[in-house]
Amino acid sequence: MTQEKVVAPAPELTLVEPYSSYQEVNTGSESAVIHLDDYRQPGLPGEAYTSAQHLEQERQAIFSRYWVCVGLASDLPHPGDVYPTDVAGMPIVLVRDRAGQLGAFHNICSHRGLQLVEQPCHVQAHLRCPYHSWTYKLDGSLKNTPHFGGYYKDSYEGFDRDKRGLQPIRCDQWLDLIFVNLSGDAPPLAEYLQPVRDRWSMYDLSLLRHEPREVSLQCNANWKLAVENFSESYHLSWVHPALNSCSRMEDHFAFEVGDVHVGQGSLLYKSGEIEGRSLPCLPDLAAHQKATVAEYITVFPNLMLGVHPDYFLAFTVNPLSPTQTQERLAFYFMGDEAMTPENQALRNLPIDLWRDTNDEDIAMIERLQAGRNSPRFDGGCFSPELEQPVYRFQQMVARAIGELPP
Ligand code: FES
Ligand SMILES: [Fe+2]
Repeated sequence: MTQEKVVAPAPELTLVEPYSSYQEVNTGSESAVIHLDDYRQPGLPGEAYTSAQHLEQERQAIFSRYWVCVGLASDLPHPGDVYPTDVAGMPIVLVRDRAGQLGAFHNICSHRGLQLVEQPCHVQAHLRCPYHSWTYKLDGSLKNTPHFGGYYKDSYEGFDRDKRGLQPIRCDQWLDLIFVNLSGDAPPLAEYLQPVRDRWSMYDLSLLRHEPREVSLQCNANWKLAVENFSESYHLSWVHPALNSCSRMEDHFAFEVGDVHVGQGSLLYKSGEIEGRSLPCLPDLAAHQKATVAEYITVFPNLMLGVHPDYFLAFTVNPLSPTQTQERLAFYFMGDEAMTPENQALRNLPIDLWRDTNDEDIAMIERLQAGRNSPRFDGGCFSPELEQPVYRFQQMVARAIGELPP
């Protein structure tokens, strides 16, 4: 059994100054200003969870600048598959070209800005805008602009089609997960995820097989509350009594994952069983003292991962508004044998557990959201032993926004 080192309570990050502006919008008391130099100090103010202005800052400082998980390669498995989605309300479209290469574009027609693709679909070779029938190749280049120069003239002098293609977005993939970086200047994805890959290097993640059944829902809470809730196990005893009976709060541990992402785990994971049968597990777990260990990593900003001996979880959140969040939980099992129809009931066990557990969480995070409308909310405080990951995440948000020009 591994004994994990608990993250030391001394913080590494000191909060940037621009959050002093919250003094004006919060309670006005000094304690409402965030100077997170201690876990027991207040966290982000209520306004960070309720205001459209704050979400706009997060769009610019976080969702445009960091690698953001926006979908799964399994969402568009075949050449010609097209998958529209959005990043914190900014419409994008993922495309798999004829050669099987993945691409991402801003999902707007270059003519008058119509949302180009509305639903996931399959196309032969082109994307066609339904408004004036401009067409684009799957590499984003503009192909046809019918009658644009007048009736039966598709162009006019000086009109440069090459400059009117779809606007590409930097896009990369790890495992089945598709990430985009809208600003185009984040460090390479492999570098960004290196601490995660190092932490889980003993796991053969090439065995992951995507399960078609997933859990998808909207909740009435700010996206950060969903991430924060995932990142701590302090609430397990009271919110998830069923879970706590097999994986107690005190069996959990926290760990470092570089200086951006945060991790925690459980020492006593037990695979589900039906009539003495259970799902295949990753190989060599016992040799690495991982046979009963589950680990969870929050990848800043919006991706939460869980590796268990017999399944893998990818949980993404996407803000729909300051107070509404789309959640998606995708599941992977270990190797082809796990995916047989006979194993569906076994695969359903963790999916049902996450669906039910998440429902319990949502009841709490919607009340956390309601509490953030109170003028007396001062940012709360953190357990130095059990809520370090929440503290780290809030600091990441604060630091990112602090780097925006005033
Ligand atoms: S807006 Fe797309 S063709 Fe006119
Ligand atoms: Fe929970």
